[in-house]
Amino acid sequence: MLLTTCRLTRALQLTLAVIKPDAVAHPLMLEALHQKILDNNFVIVRWKDLLWRRQDSEKFYAEHAERFFYQRLVEFMSSGPMRAYILAREDAIRHWRELMGPTKVFRARYTSPASIRAQFGLTDTRNTTHGSDSPESAQREISFFFPDFHVEEWMEKEEPLFRSGRIHYDHQNQTHMLSAPS
Ligand code: RTP
Ligand code: MG
Repeated sequence: MLLTTCRLTRALQLTLAVIKPDAVAHPLMLEALHQKILDNNFVIVRWKDLLWRRQDSEKFYAEHAERFFYQRLVEFMSSGPMRAYILAREDAIRHWRELMGPTKVFRARYTSPASIRAQFGLTDTRNTTHGSDSPESAQREISFFFPDFHVEEWMEKEEPLFRSGRIHYDHQNQTHMLSAPS
């Protein structure tokens, strides 16, 4: 029975989530978003606070270089501290994007009123959070923010342990950690 359960359990997927400068500027909002991550059953694998230089912002959003909002976006993302997370969950990419809601805040308020962008977003640029949109972009974005983290190695060595549930939330580090074997 246990074997069947294990076999049917799908692998955890990693995604890169960012709390953008508009939200990090407000400590209560940041705390509420961290709690939302936990309440939605994401495993917090890593997180860090950081401040981008303009060049970092330009590089990360290079795919949008031709879009009308690019300059505004690049400026905003290097305007203040942000927080990046590596999150794990089954279907983490889809679940995190669903929780964020649509890119445009006005639309989010109509179509997904419980979403993060509906609740906390200010404008279409200052829309609170970022989330990877595919496994390929998750891998690239995780390496961009966490160059010392190796996705393939984590999937091979740690994912099975995390999936087996032998983890706990460490309140001091605000991260999930593997529990010591009993
Ligand atoms: P994200 O990349 O931040 O997770 O959001 P997304 O996939 O929903 O949106 P995407 O099309 O990738 O756009 C990246 C970010 O650019 C800003 N944006 N502004 N003014 C506008 O119409 C507009 N459109 C996009 C947003 O900050 C968006 O998150
Ligand atoms: Mg995107």
